Amino acid sequence: MRLFSTLCSLALAASSLALPTSDHVVHERRTTTPARWQKTRRVTGTEHVLVRIGLTQSNLENAYEYLMNVSDSVSPNYGKFWTADEVANTFAPSNETVAAVRNWLVGAGVAESRLAQTKNQGWIVFGASAKEAESLLHTKYYHYTDKISGTKAIAAEEYRVPQHVQQHIDFVKPGVLLPLTSKGPSAKHTSKSRPLGKTSVNASSLATCDEVITPACVAALYKIPHASANVSANNSLGIFEEGDYYAQEDLNLFFRNFTPYIPQGTHPKPAFIDGAEAPVNTSDAGAESDLDFQLAYPIVYPQTITLYQTDDLNYASGEIETDGFFNTFLDAVDGSYCTYCAYGECGDSPTLDPVYPDNYTDGYKGQLMCGVYKPTNVVSVSYGGQEYDLPAYYQQRQCNEFLKLGLQGTSILFASGDDGVAGPPGDDSDNGCLGNGTIFSPAFPNSCPYVTNVGATKLYPNHTIADGESAVVDPIGHPYSIAFSSGGGFSNIYPIPDYQASAVAEYFTKHNPPYPYYEGNASFGQNGGIYNRLGRGYPDVAANGDNIAEFNAGEFILEGGTSASTPIFSSIINRIIERRIAVGKGPLGFLNPVLYRHPGALNDITNGSNPGCGTEGFYTAPGWDPVSGLGTPNFPKLLDVFLNLP
Ligand SMILES: *[C@@H]1O[C@H](CO)[C@@H](O)[C@H](O)[C@H]1NC(C)=O
Ligand SMILES: *[C@@H]1O[C@H](CO)[C@@H](O)[C@H](O)[C@H]1NC(C)=O
Ligand SMILES: *[C@@H]1O[C@H](CO)[C@@H](O)[C@H](O)[C@H]1NC(C)=O
Ligand SMILES: *[C@@H]1O[C@H](CO)[C@@H](O)[C@H](O)[C@H]1NC(C)=O
Ligand SMILES: *[C@@H]1O[C@H](CO)[C@@H](O)[C@H](O)[C@H]1NC(C)=O
Ligand SMILES: *[C@@H]1O[C@H](CO)[C@@H](O)[C@H](O)[C@H]1NC(C)=O
Ligand SMILES: *[C@@H]1O[C@H](CO)[C@@H](O)[C@H](O)[C@H]1NC(C)=O
Ligand SMILES: *[C@@H]1O[C@H](CO)[C@@H](O)[C@H](O)[C@H]1NC(C)=O
Ligand SMILES: *[C@@H]1O[C@H](CO)[C@@H](O)[C@H](O)[C@H]1NC(C)=O
Ligand SMILES: *[C@@H]1O[C@H](CO)[C@@H](O)[C@H](O)[C@H]1NC(C)=O
Ligand SMILES: *[C@@H]1O[C@H](CO)[C@@H](O)[C@H](O)[C@H]1NC(C)=O
Repeated sequence: MRLFSTLCSLALAASSLALPTSDHVVHERRTTTPARWQKTRRVTGTEHVLVRIGLTQSNLENAYEYLMNVSDSVSPNYGKFWTADEVANTFAPSNETVAAVRNWLVGAGVAESRLAQTKNQGWIVFGASAKEAESLLHTKYYHYTDKISGTKAIAAEEYRVPQHVQQHIDFVKPGVLLPLTSKGPSAKHTSKSRPLGKTSVNASSLATCDEVITPACVAALYKIPHASANVSANNSLGIFEEGDYYAQEDLNLFFRNFTPYIPQGTHPKPAFIDGAEAPVNTSDAGAESDLDFQLAYPIVYPQTITLYQTDDLNYASGEIETDGFFNTFLDAVDGSYCTYCAYGECGDSPTLDPVYPDNYTDGYKGQLMCGVYKPTNVVSVSYGGQEYDLPAYYQQRQCNEFLKLGLQGTSILFASGDDGVAGPPGDDSDNGCLGNGTIFSPAFPNSCPYVTNVGATKLYPNHTIADGESAVVDPIGHPYSIAFSSGGGFSNIYPIPDYQASAVAEYFTKHNPPYPYYEGNASFGQNGGIYNRLGRGYPDVAANGDNIAEFNAGEFILEGGTSASTPIFSSIINRIIERRIAVGKGPLGFLNPVLYRHPGALNDITNGSNPGCGTEGFYTAPGWDPVSGLGTPNFPKLLDVFLNLP
């Protein structure tokens, strides 16, 4: 995997530029400075700087192999997931690395007692005068100001470290990197809805599934049997929400109308993060949260649902704007992530992620929550943005964490987006596309190779369940006020992972898209190319996401979006794990390696495309395609595949 070698090659390339001054070699040098950052003045010698030395982690180059070792069905170690400690210890810097860096600093006159090391051993920290830090690192520090946000930072144009410790140092801060800034607001997947008035839908009829998708339609589409009355205490379904809140009255209305076997008052178990709270009064209910629970409960009940409601209202509502996403959730389910260093970032980004304690009015005054919840076996996430919104290294650090959660047995599923090959209109450009509005915009964090992405399908009018589904294409006004097509495409950050390589190759060979492309983001847009032929393809799978019955804010509405597809697929995985637990087996972790080996366990979707950027988008095809992935779930077949694995 090239993913993990980026920084190493950066360091090596930089070291070859070293000037022969003492035994120090250039470790990092900045080649270009973003125009928004203005260098103001030299730091004076007496100013205080906090020096943070990110230590090289062990075994990152083996991470993909480790993941496949426990998640690929052909591995003899399938399902032998790691503990959180095993994960932390495997990737922690070696003792040799820690000793080498400490010895260097102590030898250079930094008293041992001044050196602190984070719990996960990721970095060594000490306070110093600028003069001392400059002399340790053979560098000159400057003050910089971000002309747009006013953010201030200290950075150097280059710095050096002794040759014998270079291999042990990932990066130093302050160093050459300026704080992360994003290119625009990161959008969330907002589901689309239209009011219907009073429900007159027959909850047990399958005759109207082409008009309204009810729990009975979902069960029939994917052949989901009734749930067993006896469920495991260790298999609650995880659902992530941010800035959108369920109302109990909406859940009750839904249960009363569609699933009377679910008692009134049934509600998710709270796993609230950094000051988040739920539920809200009916009039404030969010369409996303209500939708997620109304789709998931009918499939998993009597199993429980765990609600990861994230961030205090200031951040969750956007009152304080942050462009990063998802890190505070990851901190809460893996304490080591709070201080995890990778790609030049240690812990969350203070300029992109929420900062706690939140000193603004009514902010959450507690500390950032780290490792307070054990992650559930399955986590369903109907939120995301675009790759273009965030720096690549912010995304890569987070993507590594998804890998680590997979190693520990958690399956994470993301909605693939609702704008086809584009991003949301107005995000990054008028039509949500890159370049001059012609280049496809891959979604974040969907393009991470270690998550499972769910696209959206629908039943067209006058088609029955037996006729099969198509990819969602809904033009403006039909039926929603905004256009909607299933998110899909190819990453500009991550290369095609091995588990997907033959599926993607077959798509290009047999169903070559009619568009010019570029190969690797270094040639972004060259020769008129509008997508990256070498990028990780998504989505991986699909499920229904159109005309979904929902009660929201007391009204009966129809809802659409990959936001709906994701809790459906996640709930089915949860049910399969339930059956595994019943026979003494465990959770499933990262799903993709098995799914791509068993495309026959999914209903192949071959009708439709995912329009965007002035094109019809990619076309569905037999086999995997970047519109509907491998297809929609066939519960009995998926159960058979996963139940037969150890
Ligand atoms: C796979 O995991 C087993 C232990 O579970 C280990 O012995 C083996 O070396 C691993 N193989 C690889 C290729 O990582
Ligand atoms: C590394 O150091 C820690 C603490 O000093 C010690 O517990 C551990 O055994 C050491 N590991 C190795 C491989 O030497
Ligand atoms: C609802 O549909 C079911 C199954 O088709 C049918 O048996 C029942 O009579 C219908 N109920 C009403 C009120 O039409
Ligand atoms: C439920 O499952 C557990 C564990 O498999 C078993 O011990 C228990 O007897 C079951 N209860 C019922 C009511 O079937
Ligand atoms: C849940 O998991 C814990 C530890 O992982 C185990 O001790 C317990 O027996 C499990 N409970 C059930 C009902 O499977
Ligand atoms: C719900 O409404 C009641 C009565 O208007 C009010 O007291 C309460 O604060 C509201 N709760 C929330 C969470 O908005
Ligand atoms: C909160 O803290 C930040 C930086 O720590 C500071 O700039 C800001 O003025 C503070 N806001 C309030 C309301 O105290
Ligand atoms: C965008 O269009 C302008 C004017 O046609 C052209 O000069 C420029 O090179 C284009 N940029 C890209 C990235 O295609
Ligand atoms: C569906 O079938 C009905 C009855 O045959 C017909 O009136 C209607 O136009 C059809 N709708 C579509 C979208 O084909
Ligand atoms: C891809 O290349 C374009 C053009 O150089 C650049 O704007 C963008 O940031 C790059 N994206 C990534 C993920 O590196
Ligand atoms: C295929 O998709 C088109 C729209 O792209 C739709 O009109 C047609 O009904 C679909 N066919 C089937 C069999 O669903």
